[in-house]
Amino acid sequence: MSTQLKNDRLIRALLRKPVDITPVWIMRQAGRYLPEYRATRKKAGDFIKLCQTPELACEVTLQPITRYPLDAAIIFSDILTIPDAMGLGLKLVESVGPKFENSINSLSDIKNLPLPDPEEELGYVMDAIRLVRKELNGSVPLIGFSGSPWTLATYMIEGGSSKEFSKAKKMLQAEPDTLHILLDHLAKSVILYLNAQIKAGAQVIMIFDTWGGILTTPNYMEFSLFYMKKIYEQLETNFNGIKIPVIFFTKGSGLWIEDIAKTGCDAVSIDWNSNIGHARKKVGDRVAIQGNMNPTILKEGEETIVREVQSILHSFGPNPGHVFNLGHGITPDINPDNVEIFIRAVHDFSKEYHKN
Ligand code: CP3
Repeated sequence: MSTQLKNDRLIRALLRKPVDITPVWIMRQAGRYLPEYRATRKKAGDFIKLCQTPELACEVTLQPITRYPLDAAIIFSDILTIPDAMGLGLKLVESVGPKFENSINSLSDIKNLPLPDPEEELGYVMDAIRLVRKELNGSVPLIGFSGSPWTLATYMIEGGSSKEFSKAKKMLQAEPDTLHILLDHLAKSVILYLNAQIKAGAQVIMIFDTWGGILTTPNYMEFSLFYMKKIYEQLETNFNGIKIPVIFFTKGSGLWIEDIAKTGCDAVSIDWNSNIGHARKKVGDRVAIQGNMNPTILKEGEETIVREVQSILHSFGPNPGHVFNLGHGITPDINPDNVEIFIRAVHDFSKEYHKN
């Protein structure tokens, strides 16, 4: 497999090496705001079919790359593939979100969970990665990903999306040892899954901890970050002599950026509540920082988008180690033309920060 990248800005920035311009990609860049995504999803029938058909997953992964001068592709999939492969039965209910046929309520439910073989039950993800790598032909790096054990556990315990997380919080308080058994099992599965993604061709790994931010500080350390660190320590981040950078994203992690940076990960992805300049001062000599424009800015006009991009670039300053992104996923109501404005603004206005 060829490892020479035509555009290696993302990898360089994640390893805090100099770049010509700041690399940019967008969480959920292949998604419903793109008419071509909606057309392929229709062709697939539903979202799960789209994820599970490697040719179609490859097609939608490449759609934003074809349309925009992005510096990375992210494999089209979902964090809920692991619970689905453990037999929970994933469905995406229109305007409700993900739902599982079976949820986790007790220790015996957890003890019955299998450890999916990534090349079997999750082989469709590996096939999609191999296909995308072939199609990209070294143009930009491909990001592989997984959910964090805590975030996956919340969906499995709640049986889908949740606003209050009352069942997950109840298990944490009443049966912490049971929750730890589930988190440990999920961590094992995530390690197998991500190492298989690296083998299949993922050149960067990102862990999404969407719901770490609902926890208290000691609970975040014990029930979420502990397992993310454990995963990091067992990833094959030196693959055939090539370094695979790892990005950690906990939404709502403003208070914990230093703790996250200490895990050994290469980059911390921050949401829009954090000030990126402050984050850099706290940890910028240890990790790269990814982020952090508020996705709602993309609903505004060109002037506001450009001003916000400039403000974030200025706040980060002329230092290595910035990957531009949104603070969370792009929403379906965004005009695709504004995404073009955003990406071009990052590239155009970041030049002056990378002169030497
Ligand atoms: O970034 C990318 O382009 C890669 C694709 C990707 C998806 N989901 C596709 C998707 C990634 C990285 C994810 C991760 C994911 N999935 C997370 C963590 C990131 C985050 O946003 O915090 C979470 C919590 C999920 C679980 C999930 N999947 C939810 C809550 C939903 C419903 C969201 C909604 O807006 O309806 C999904 C479905 C989903 N995953 C969609 C996409 C493009 C929408 C599916 C559709 O209707 O076509």
